[in-house]
Amino acid sequence: MFLILLLILSIDYKTVNAKSECSVDGQVRSPKYHLIEKCFRSKLGIVTKANFTSLTSCQRLGFEKKALAINFSPQEAWQDYNVTGRYTCEVLKCAEADGGLSMVNDSRYDYYSIYGKPVPHVNSTCVPTLGMFFILTKKQNYSQGFRDCKNISGLPADVTSEQRTDSLAQLIAGASLEVAFVGLRSKNGSGFFSVTGDALDCTTYRAWQPGSPRKARDKYDCVLLTRSRTWVTTPCKKNYPMICEIVPGGPYKRGSIFASRMKPANETNTENKNDEEF
Ligand SMILES: *[C@@H]1O[C@H](CO)[C@@H](O)[C@H](O)[C@H]1NC(C)=O
Ligand SMILES: *[C@@H]1O[C@H](CO)[C@@H](O)[C@H](O)[C@H]1NC(C)=O
Ligand SMILES: *[C@@H]1O[C@H](CO)[C@@H](O)[C@H](O)[C@H]1NC(C)=O
Ligand SMILES: *[C@@H]1O[C@H](CO)[C@@H](O)[C@H](O)[C@H]1NC(C)=O
Ligand SMILES: *[C@@H]1O[C@H](CO)[C@@H](O)[C@H](O)[C@H]1NC(C)=O
Ligand SMILES: *[C@@H]1O[C@H](CO)[C@@H](O)[C@H](O)[C@H]1NC(C)=O
Ligand SMILES: *[C@@H]1O[C@H](CO)[C@@H](O)[C@H](O)[C@H]1NC(C)=O
Ligand SMILES: *[C@@H]1O[C@H](CO)[C@@H](O)[C@H](O)[C@H]1NC(C)=O
Repeated sequence: MFLILLLILSIDYKTVNAKSECSVDGQVRSPKYHLIEKCFRSKLGIVTKANFTSLTSCQRLGFEKKALAINFSPQEAWQDYNVTGRYTCEVLKCAEADGGLSMVNDSRYDYYSIYGKPVPHVNSTCVPTLGMFFILTKKQNYSQGFRDCKNISGLPADVTSEQRTDSLAQLIAGASLEVAFVGLRSKNGSGFFSVTGDALDCTTYRAWQPGSPRKARDKYDCVLLTRSRTWVTTPCKKNYPMICEIVPGGPYKRGSIFASRMKPANETNTENKNDEEF
């Protein structure tokens, strides 16, 4: 039902933008949740929870709420474990990074995430419901930054919405930086394109600082996000930090989230655990 609605919306969108190069939603995000670990539950913040019998319904709710991960309790687990008063579907604002530090052993739930392969770098930062990001603080040119983002399964971050510009500017400020390269680039003097190939014209939000973009697009071909929430053009060959956005993907390789953590969390007795959200 929701997918059908989305399909209709996207067809409509495509028709409207028939001339531009626009993807369905202009994002690197995929709505697929990958099973990460059975009998584990993440204690990251909950957006909402519901009592569903099917995983599909829980995934759909997650997709609708832009959840990065979900905890789902399958029916089989109800027979063996007392789930009275429990919600079977917990929809999470963030996803676990490498090490799974907020994951606890809990036989009633299975943990799913949009980030399965690879698991996000341990030092990535979550922006709730937006995604996982990684700041390359090293000053280097755009091509080198791009290469390093790729190496951690990321891409220069998308800033084409107010929410994205605002929250990523906060990340820049939080890292004590002034500016960082983001995923907008003009190739060969053309208009700006996102790293996913979408023309900037696919979206209406703009945060250009006065004076940007420069007319000489062939020289001022890259874009910096400033900590004061504006976009400034600069030559791609100049050296700056970069914000990478981790690209969701899968399938997940069992156990890899704990690979960097020698001893898994010792929280085994789930029944008596302090469940702050209940
Ligand atoms: C399940 O847990 C609830 C609340 O903790 C309790 O009232 C109930 O007696 C338990 N049922 C069983 C079968 O253990
Ligand atoms: C969710 O459904 C299960 C199974 O029917 C039930 O045991 C549980 O109490 C329900 N939880 C809530 C919060 O209603
Ligand atoms: C993550 O960040 C910490 C603190 O800045 C640093 O000590 C550590 O080396 C980083 N880990 C990796 C794998 O880069
Ligand atoms: C790519 O990442 C790996 C770790 O995942 C690291 O060892 C390697 O140095 C990185 N390569 C570059 C070129 O940054
Ligand atoms: C750049 O633009 C020029 C003139 O429009 C064209 O001849 C050239 O093939 C373009 N180069 C690339 C890499 O698109
Ligand atoms: C980026 O820096 C590398 C290493 O300094 C250099 O080889 C490369 O040519 C630079 N690329 C651009 C586009 O300036
Ligand atoms: C989870 O709990 C089980 C049984 O209590 C234990 O055997 C297992 O080692 C635990 N796993 C982790 C990763 O903590
Ligand atoms: C894990 O729990 C066991 C038994 O409760 C305890 O003996 C052990 O020291 C704990 N290990 C860690 C790393 O906390």
